[in-house]
Amino acid sequence: MARSIDELKKQYNSTAKGNATRRMGMGGGRGPGGNMGATGKPKNAGKTIARIFSYMQGHRYKFVLVLVCMLVNTLFSLIGGYMTAPIIDNLALTVNPSADVRIEGVEKLVDNFIRKAFFIPESNTAEIVIKYVTAAAIVLGFVYLFGILAAYLQGRLMLSISTNMLKKMRDDLFEKMQTLPVRYFDSKPVGEVMSRFTNDIDNLENMINNSLTSLISGMVTLIGTFIFMVTTSWVLTLITVVFIPVFALGGILIGKKSRKYYAGQQAALGAVNGYIEETVSGQKVVKVFNHEDTCCEEFGMLNEDMRDKQFKASFWGGVMGPIMGNTSQISYAVTVGIGGILMISGHLNPGGLTIFARYSRQFAMPINNMSQQMTTVFAALAGAERVFEVMDTDPELPDREDANAMDNMQGHVIMKNVTFGYNPGHTILYDINLYAKPGQKIAFVGSTGAGKTTVTNLLSRFYDVDEGTITIDGVDVRDIKRDRLRSQIAMVLQDTHLFSGTVMENIRYGRLDATDEEVIEAAKTASAHSFIMRLQDGYNTVLEGDGANLSQGQRQLLNIARAAISKAPILVLDEATSSVDTRTERHIEHGMDRLMKNRTTFVIAHRLSTVRNANAIMVMEHGRIIERGSHDELLALKGRYYELYTGKTELA
Ligand SMILES: Nc1ncnc2c1ncn2[C@@H]1O[C@H](COP(=O)(O)OP(=O)(O)OP(=O)(O)O)[C@@H](O)[C@H]1O
Ligand SMILES: [Mg+2]
Repeated sequence: MARSIDELKKQYNSTAKGNATRRMGMGGGRGPGGNMGATGKPKNAGKTIARIFSYMQGHRYKFVLVLVCMLVNTLFSLIGGYMTAPIIDNLALTVNPSADVRIEGVEKLVDNFIRKAFFIPESNTAEIVIKYVTAAAIVLGFVYLFGILAAYLQGRLMLSISTNMLKKMRDDLFEKMQTLPVRYFDSKPVGEVMSRFTNDIDNLENMINNSLTSLISGMVTLIGTFIFMVTTSWVLTLITVVFIPVFALGGILIGKKSRKYYAGQQAALGAVNGYIEETVSGQKVVKVFNHEDTCCEEFGMLNEDMRDKQFKASFWGGVMGPIMGNTSQISYAVTVGIGGILMISGHLNPGGLTIFARYSRQFAMPINNMSQQMTTVFAALAGAERVFEVMDTDPELPDREDANAMDNMQGHVIMKNVTFGYNPGHTILYDINLYAKPGQKIAFVGSTGAGKTTVTNLLSRFYDVDEGTITIDGVDVRDIKRDRLRSQIAMVLQDTHLFSGTVMENIRYGRLDATDEEVIEAAKTASAHSFIMRLQDGYNTVLEGDGANLSQGQRQLLNIARAAISKAPILVLDEATSSVDTRTERHIEHGMDRLMKNRTTFVIAHRLSTVRNANAIMVMEHGRIIERGSHDELLALKGRYYELYTGKTELA
């Protein structure tokens, strides 16, 4: 049974967020699309803009230069336009010397400049006017050339500013991310964190590179054009200004519509991307359960929805915008009509009318443009707010001033009345007590979800206890420098993870100064050596995407080797060998025995045969240790452990 379109959209928008790591290559550069918020409204635009600008620090002089270039560019293009007035008027006078054309005011200034610079006498015989026009064309050429140069410089400088700003922002964001507590990552889908780097920064880049410059140059053009218009004819200026509210209103209306549908399009895109991604990564499951047809049906619905949203978004953004822009032609017609009357009544020169017609269009353009840019600007500001939100998230509590460096940690671990819950009001661990000495192996067994991994999370201070204490060598873990604490605990996490890089590099991650020989030694301890040697390039084989080219068990062996190379006095193995065959597991045990000699080892395992030789076994159930003792003691107890071991109750 296919799900309904609403269900699908709801589910796959969050999937899209949750799986964005693998999605990096998809989604056409817009990153995880499922981010409805990407088009949301900024909460405090002023503050956010100020903060974005604070990233310009160190580039301020460049920005001033950009503004100057922008001014020069706009001004020169306005002057260039203005220069056609004396040309046309001189031509008009040549054709009809008795015409009522008076070259005066600013026009006269320009006229004089051309004549002085090129030694052209004040007369309008055909021969001289040809010289005049040629001279004016040369000046015009230079004016535009300067404008182009300024535009080039402006573009280059702005790009340098924006790329540097974004680099700094990404750096800050990444550095911040490294300081965030595990709780932050546990409570947020990976994709949500990812989309800060992709979607949000992308939008910001778009705004800084395009909207910002076009907004500023739009303003400059607007003001400049206005001044030139007034000097040419205040009557026509008045008429043009009357039309402004019409464009502005149209622009704002269209902006609103297109923002709304753009958000819808993004949501639809997110759902489509999420669906494709899940189907691709789950292709085997889809095939095994014969879900191909349902998949096609569901995808069809999402795809149709996307088409509709895309149509509306593009219609309002791409079709109506330009059409609305063309309404400025109406103002053009009115201007030309009234301008014509003014010219005939002797209030305006032919040149004045020509350039005014041009100005009236130039005037409408930035207004229309700016109202359309608002979509991008809002999206970018909302994105920037989410970026800053991450930057403002509380980092892991800093170490206390007098935190202990524990230079010579032995590994006496004591947990006393430890109570803990991930979320307030929802206790996961109740009253955990234990004492582990160096050289001892302490095992945790018990059903799925009993709280075994949680205990190790507290030891490494991924989370802090709610009640009770955990001490190492008598020092509360909260009083130990965090990096020192973690460097003294070697962990094989329940979820294996390998980085892109060679096998050698991945093992060395456990201790960066380890020699190649030590790496090989650790691999032998973890029984990984023989399979590594069978890989294409041995230790230099490059691992792809979290070790996708390895078997599940092989991935675990590399994770064990990584922990084995560390010289930490405390070793935590959370289901480290769950995917490894029993024979290899026994091999590893032999190797590890040597390693564990002077260390405190915590082992979590479902396969009870692997913990038989532990000094103490803690049987956990629903967050409590319900039985403890050695293997033999627990069997003699004939309690839960006995049930588990003899298979009377299967472990989940
Ligand atoms: N990050 C988290 N936020 C909230 N609750 C969590 C979190 N991690 C685990 N839990 C909850 O804590 C309880 C204990 O989980 P834990 O991972 O410690 O179990 P476990 O004994 O290691 O199970 P398994 O054998 O399946 O690994 C579970 O009920 C789980 O739902
Ligand atoms: Mg676990």
